[in-house]
Amino acid sequence: MNQPNKVQEYEKVVDLLEHFLKKYQNLGRNAIETSIVSLLKNNISGLFFVGFYEVIDENYLEVGPYQSTILATPRIEKGKGQCGQCWAEGKVQIQEDVKVCQNYIACDNETQSEIVIPVIKNGVVQSVLDIDSEHLSRFDEVDSKYLQRIVEYLI
Ligand code: SME
Repeated sequence: MNQPNKVQEYEKVVDLLEHFLKKYQNLGRNAIETSIVSLLKNNISGLFFVGFYEVIDENYLEVGPYQSTILATPRIEKGKGQCGQCWAEGKVQIQEDVKVCQNYIACDNETQSEIVIPVIKNGVVQSVLDIDSEHLSRFDEVDSKYLQRIVEYLI
């Protein structure tokens, strides 16, 4: 996908989200996460899975709102897979080819590439946004920049 189209898609999502959050103020975390998932899955091209994983205790993430045709792995240990690694490091993870990734938890046979964004409040990871694509090398710095901006609406 060319970069101008990608930027255009994310700008649309940011506009829709801002408009939505202005209209419905003081929404809870679950409502905002669910709305972000829906906006991304339905407006950004080439996404197979979009979902949040929530930190539920010191050791585990548990699946939160998501959209896909698969059943997501429900719990992920800290440090395990790209989601657990994102939580442990507090840093964006981009895998251009999940088949060669040593620390990857497969939930399906379609996913080729993945990006995971940490949601950090007061220096603590609250949840992670996990996005999978059926295309190789689907994610880059543009996705990272916009997705970090989008999850800031949760903070
Ligand atoms: N691939 C993720 C697991 C979650 S599923 O993709 C929905 C990981 O490696 O943590």
